[in-house]
Amino acid sequence: MRPLIAGNWKMNGLGASLEEFERLKTLLDEAGPVDCNVLLCPPSTLLHRAATMCQETMIVLGGQDCHPEVSGAYTGDVSAEMLADAGATYVIVGHSERRADHAETDELVQRKAKAAIDAGLTPVICVGETEAERAEGRANQVVGAQVQNSLPAYEGQGIVVAYEPVWAIGTGKTATTEDIADMHAHIRGILVGMLGTQGEAARILYGGSVKPGNAGEILAVRNVDGALVGGASLVAEDFFSIIMAA
Ligand code: PGA
Repeated sequence: MRPLIAGNWKMNGLGASLEEFERLKTLLDEAGPVDCNVLLCPPSTLLHRAATMCQETMIVLGGQDCHPEVSGAYTGDVSAEMLADAGATYVIVGHSERRADHAETDELVQRKAKAAIDAGLTPVICVGETEAERAEGRANQVVGAQVQNSLPAYEGQGIVVAYEPVWAIGTGKTATTEDIADMHAHIRGILVGMLGTQGEAARILYGGSVKPGNAGEILAVRNVDGALVGGASLVAEDFFSIIMAA
């Protein structure tokens, strides 16, 4: 499966940061064909400008969250259709920062993923256990339940699952390749059970402190079909190195 390297800028980036897009475009142009798909998820304020810049490049764009409804009296929220209108083709849903800081439940994440699909976007559905849950030996159970309960019923369109152990996000810690292999195999089994052949085709990304120095090793793990990169996606050269490691 062709890997997907996805960058999540989180709440970082002003207009001037679009220079990173320019630098990434130049690096990719100079490199010629690469062996992966490239997705960047800037804050929604930059999405439209980024989309204009990325026309006729291999970089596709995504949002970082969406509301489950199409439109209405939801001050401050952004719908999946609005993201698509601004140039997105993907949207991250259920990131652990949203689950923790906004008390998002699996049920809400599932509705957001469904809204994304209805708007023609591919949802990147995030799951991952906390440090305490792993220490208690419950990582497989917790992540399994998140996958079961956050995935919407859908037909014929791709979804992406991102396994991001909460304790590895922004901490510089990464799971061992054995733990990543075990969890990705576990998630693959659940996806196949739920979706059959579509579950075999769904990409499972790893996220959590993926950097130029560890990307090659992580991306070589079985059932790792790409990476979701936070901090290292903010600097074009670092993100480019991760793309080249795929
Ligand atoms: P990080 O973030 O790469 O900075 O750990 C990953 C993420 O939150 O998606």
